[in-house]
Amino acid sequence: MTRFVCRPGGKLSGNIRVPGDKSISHRSIILSSIAEGISHISGFLQGEDSLNTIRAFEHLDVTIERDQDQVRVTGAGMHGLRKPETDLDMGNSGTAMRLLLGLLAGQVFDSRLIGDSSLSSRPMGRVIEPLQSMGAIIESEPGGRAPLQIRGTQGLKAIDYDMPVASAQVKSCLLLAGLYAQGTTVVHEPAPTRDHSERMLRGFGCDVYSDDSGISIKGNQSLMACDLEIPADISSAAFFMVAASIADNSDITLKHVGVNPTRTGVIEILELMGADIDLINPRNVSGEPVADIRVRCAGLKGIDIPLHLVPLAIDEFPVLFVAAACAQGTTRLSGAAELRVKESDRIQVMADGLVAMGIDAQAQADGIIIQGGEIAGGAVDSHGDHRIAMAFSVASLRARDDIHIDDCDNVNTSFPGFVKLAQAAGIRVSIDD
Ligand code: S3P
Repeated sequence: MTRFVCRPGGKLSGNIRVPGDKSISHRSIILSSIAEGISHISGFLQGEDSLNTIRAFEHLDVTIERDQDQVRVTGAGMHGLRKPETDLDMGNSGTAMRLLLGLLAGQVFDSRLIGDSSLSSRPMGRVIEPLQSMGAIIESEPGGRAPLQIRGTQGLKAIDYDMPVASAQVKSCLLLAGLYAQGTTVVHEPAPTRDHSERMLRGFGCDVYSDDSGISIKGNQSLMACDLEIPADISSAAFFMVAASIADNSDITLKHVGVNPTRTGVIEILELMGADIDLINPRNVSGEPVADIRVRCAGLKGIDIPLHLVPLAIDEFPVLFVAAACAQGTTRLSGAAELRVKESDRIQVMADGLVAMGIDAQAQADGIIIQGGEIAGGAVDSHGDHRIAMAFSVASLRARDDIHIDDCDNVNTSFPGFVKLAQAAGIRVSIDD
């Protein structure tokens, strides 16, 4: 099991580019696999999660050639996927499992999705139930858990669905199933969530209509191959945004980061806390907004995190809690119960780790209250959650003593090369031999 050791202190400087966006990487493989023709993808995330998505589509008989972050996909067309001869292993990835479930629910053949122990404990009922109402036949373990057995179907029927939780995975799952349904599938979100699926579907020539009342997609459309450039992942950049904000004399520029407005909650929250962040050279790349982000150290203050920003920063809370621990005063988060069903229970695991390092952090049912203070250092457990491991590495910049972080292997799911890049930027993290 990989353990990180972080020495206290340090400051951030230079220009860095973090790896490609995970959400967009998954979607690029899914859509190019069912498109007509050859798609070229650059900037693909070479992390375990997105590599598992490539492997799954290879098992579905799609030809995918990869050279580092460049991927060439020979699309099989809407009806060209073939029955896999093995279970499709989605590893640690909720996105891959939920999106593939939507796609596979509409195929004529049977398939089975499996995952690691974390993924096998995460709720899949939120996608199974609406898919069943479209006519999909899916069997799960008790409580709607993976492994998931999907039966081949002769066709789904469209639904009009009010999502009970704000989840881009649920929305995207239903849009993919909607491609294989008779009629127009409509999905209503309780709050806006990341819209990469909608943007990319349009890029592949598909009609997807969105307005304030929902997102709709007509069944039986075909997708045309296209070339995609994937920006750096704002969720990975977020570790460096917080790191530079909390470490004295820091000044760092994060290159070519995706700044889709459905993902920039982390910037808005940090700015409300007093962070010094500039977006430089905003541009549009493959249908997604992109910018370089310059972050300089600033004194942060505690805030009440506005509810509407929660879904727009959902993956960045572990490191935002570290920002809160370094801020003057109290930070309160509520309306974020979803954090309890991520790769780990991120409310409890972060509260436990912060308390172990001397910070007053109180877990709440749907959030947390954190009192800014001095980080003592000590031993924490990431519970196999990549973002928890990286968040505690960032905390070392303001710690008094070393921080030891257990169970860090899964950093490779979203951020291969994290330790090297973090060292180059000024964080004193290393792998304990
Ligand atoms: C994702 C959606 C979010 C996010 C996850 C990636 C996606 O999950 O936490 O890391 O790519 O659609 P939910 O849909 O469960 O909020």
